[in-house]
Amino acid sequence: MYTILDKVQLAEGIFKVRIDAPLVAKNWKPGQFVVLMVNEAGERIPLTIVDGNSNDCTISLVFQVVGRTTMLLASKNAGDKIFSILGPLGRPSEVKKYGDVVVVGGGVGVAEIFPQARALKSLGNYVIGVVGARTYSRLVLVEELKSICDEIHVCTDDGSYGYRGFVSDLLKRLLEKKDTIGYVYAVGPVQMMKAVSEVTRDRGIRTFVSANPIMIDGTGMCGVCRVIVGGEIKFACIDGPDFDAHLLDFDTLESRLKTYTQRESEVYQKFKGCEYDG
Ligand SMILES: Cc1cc2nc3c(=O)[nH]c(=O)nc-3n(C[C@H](O)[C@H](O)[C@H](O)COP(=O)(O)OP(=O)(O)OC[C@H]3O[C@@H](n4cnc5c(N)ncnc54)[C@H](O)[C@@H]3O)c2cc1C
Ligand code: FES
Repeated sequence: MYTILDKVQLAEGIFKVRIDAPLVAKNWKPGQFVVLMVNEAGERIPLTIVDGNSNDCTISLVFQVVGRTTMLLASKNAGDKIFSILGPLGRPSEVKKYGDVVVVGGGVGVAEIFPQARALKSLGNYVIGVVGARTYSRLVLVEELKSICDEIHVCTDDGSYGYRGFVSDLLKRLLEKKDTIGYVYAVGPVQMMKAVSEVTRDRGIRTFVSANPIMIDGTGMCGVCRVIVGGEIKFACIDGPDFDAHLLDFDTLESRLKTYTQRESEVYQKFKGCEYDG
């Protein structure tokens, strides 16, 4: 059992929890994730390790409520227990000295780019953040990211804060003005990551994304998380989750994510309001 030490609501439907998890806190690296079970009978869900502190043995996770399990997690509070946390899983992100780099986050993906932004900065890169959300009330951790990045550019789809448009539009504008970018790292919805990869492809900028297929075991056993990368089948849980964006087949990733949409929606509607009212 793992104890939740703090829980904060960052935005509409988005929460941050700090959990006592000594082994993960001591061994994690940017880009890795955990597979978590809220209770013994529950589903296993993958969540990115946003922060880990080996001194106080805690990890931080940021999650968006999209279905049954994230709703159940959101109903927990400081002092409550999580049944199981497996990790750190996945390959760590490629973090090197590139010079000028851009980290791109969309929605809850803004939280997931924190570890890379910090690691890239610590190696002496000039780190530019490009972040966005559907609307102002869904934007998370912008001030915190400002304290890590050398520059930050913010947008919302509806123009309620910052530039009106998508992060890929903002990235394109940035790259038109600045031709020194050597690396781009993006996390967010599949269509967002695909759009980012199209912006950098012709410019030949090394671009990585964190693939988010459905996962079960997270250890390479079930095959559910398979993705196509450069025409080859890879398992995101052990070969990723980071992949070269110019090789990842985003359309297959998206269609596989939709496999259980109807069932997931039925379950969500059934339990909505029972355990979570945020
Ligand atoms: C390596 C990895 C890291 C992740 N890190 C985070 C994170 O830090 N924060 C966060 O909020 N989410 C993260 N996700 C997505 C998260 O695992 C899903 O949102 C979660 O499993 C949904 O579970 P649920 O039971 O609440 O919803 P479900 O009922 O399972 O699904 C509800 C909706 O979410 C979609 N969905 C289901 N699984 C995923 C998935 N893996 N990715 C995207 N959409 C999905 C479904 O298509 C459906 O529309 C990550 C996914 C992966 C693979
Ligand atoms: S989650 Fe089962 S093989 Fe990756």
